[in-house]
Amino acid sequence: MIRKCLFPAAGYGTRFLPATKAMPKEMLPIVNKPLIQYGVEEAIEAGLRNIGFVSGRGKRAIEDHFDVSYELEHQIMGTSKEQLLHEIRDVISQCTFSYTRQTEMKGLGHAILTGESLIGREPFAVLLADDLCLDGEQGVLAQMVKLYNEHHCSIIALEEVPRDQTHRYGIVVGDEIEPGLIRVNQMVEKPDPQDAPSNTAIIGRYILTPDIFDILRATQPGIGGEIQITDAIAEQARQGRVLGYKFKGRRFDCGSIEGFVEATNFVYNTKFSRADAAG
Ligand code: G1P
Repeated sequence: MIRKCLFPAAGYGTRFLPATKAMPKEMLPIVNKPLIQYGVEEAIEAGLRNIGFVSGRGKRAIEDHFDVSYELEHQIMGTSKEQLLHEIRDVISQCTFSYTRQTEMKGLGHAILTGESLIGREPFAVLLADDLCLDGEQGVLAQMVKLYNEHHCSIIALEEVPRDQTHRYGIVVGDEIEPGLIRVNQMVEKPDPQDAPSNTAIIGRYILTPDIFDILRATQPGIGGEIQITDAIAEQARQGRVLGYKFKGRRFDCGSIEGFVEATNFVYNTKFSRADAAG
């Protein structure tokens, strides 16, 4: 049974400077909701109510977002604006939030290892809020938790990317065991297009078995001099213990300006303009 979801949220978000100079990139809004809230809502939909953040310096706004804001709430109480806080209040009331800090930027693998104190010895999910997934009948994590309950091994979300983009992703190879589900046997972090063994990329949704922490402790820095989660999961894959899942839905790379704008347009067009038309 999976109860916990870890959110690595220590990165600087340099691609969005100057917006991210004094504000965490996870708080950038897609229309009117911060990216991180979309992620937490996806976790809740999957039944994961223990939310852990691996944060860092300058990320206090995340903690404040998932807490009561007495003065503001008192001010708007009883006015028409009060309903604008319903969603976030709902999120807060359904979850517990825990925080730990990554003091050095040593890669995603290191961030996840830093989260060990919040997770303990149980399987858990990891969600990278930059990868915003929308438009499936069900959220991607909910789809993956269902698979975990059948297969009891690590599961990574996959998507085909254009060949010339492989250097931005973890890339996998494996054998299809049923439509959309592969047993992964090879993984490589950010290969150049000419070296990439496929164009099947890892998207920021993982379910990991807790032995990953022991593997991470022994994982040497990989590409970019960082401890890569891909390298640690590759160790589990060598033992046949990793499934890759081509999820249903649409992913927006909100770590890039283009993806961020696309997501903004998508959410506006599907949610807001329709609401206007209806209202
Ligand atoms: C991370 C992972 C990479 C994965 C990607 C998905 O990279 O290291 O394997 O494909 O997330 O968004 P990052 O985007 O943090 O550089």
